[in-house]
Amino acid sequence: MVTDGTPIKTMKLYHEVDRVLNDLAAAGFGLDGALDANELARFDQYHYFGTDAVDEAINGLSLGPGSAVVEIGGGIGGPARRLASAARCHVSAIELQPDLNSLAADLTARCGLSELVDHIEGDALDGVVGEGVFDAVVSWLTFLHIADRPLLYRECARMLRPGGSMYVEDYHRLGTLSQDEVRILAEDVFCHRVPTLAEYETELSAAGFVDIELTDVTVAWRLFVADRFAEFRAARSLMIDRHGEELVDGLDHFYASINDLFSGGNLGGLRLTARLS
Ligand SMILES: C[S@@+](CC[C@H](N)C(=O)[O-])C[C@H]1O[C@@H](n2cnc3c(N)ncnc32)[C@H](O)[C@@H]1O
Repeated sequence: MVTDGTPIKTMKLYHEVDRVLNDLAAAGFGLDGALDANELARFDQYHYFGTDAVDEAINGLSLGPGSAVVEIGGGIGGPARRLASAARCHVSAIELQPDLNSLAADLTARCGLSELVDHIEGDALDGVVGEGVFDAVVSWLTFLHIADRPLLYRECARMLRPGGSMYVEDYHRLGTLSQDEVRILAEDVFCHRVPTLAEYETELSAAGFVDIELTDVTVAWRLFVADRFAEFRAARSLMIDRHGEELVDGLDHFYASINDLFSGGNLGGLRLTARLS
């Protein structure tokens, strides 16, 4: 079975996520047994620029041993394991999809990082973690799935201690999206709203955030998604041997859609930092 029928599963990146085990097998790792988080990091980061993007958050927010961090949208756990292995943070990673969350917990255990990382299954909007307990909220390419940003930002503020900080990488809207782009975002990316930079600023301020810094990273992301698509196409037969044709066709469609969106010029990439007043 390819999907479990939840709406977010229209996004083909989320089909058969245990394909990471095929990648690990190809790299010489068994189905169980100890793993090195650095080796795994080649396959477990569902955002752009892999662990470098996580290191931006570690350095930008000065995260280290003793930092309590909540990640919105943990995926299969790549960023949380990087935060734990590189900075020794305590991480609570909230993930909506049960199959991703349980795989994330298995992989974290195999990396020997379960003492530092909690994988929490649930909707980050539902108050699944405590109030005022985190030094930092971090997130990579998850806010795009959540249309009600005012509610999301209020929830982020609720989780943070006063003065706590936020690091997010996500999409922003540069121009007017065409009907086709709106459809592709909804159908292939499960994204129903892309705010402008001005809307980020207004809505974050309304939730109590200050020192809001919005950095446009569109040019780098446009190149990244183009390269990712080209490399995946070039490795198609190898990928089919590893994962099967149906899964590869789905990922090809997803990577092509993202490349089309960024090359269209209306979708941008954003790195944001802010602090709760
Ligand atoms: C593109 S993936 C990124 C995962 C991870 N941040 C990474 O970079 O590897 C976005 C993730 O956010 C999760 N997500 C979407 N909406 C969510 C919500 N309301 N609460 C928690 N997780 C959510 C999705 O299920 C998906 O795993």
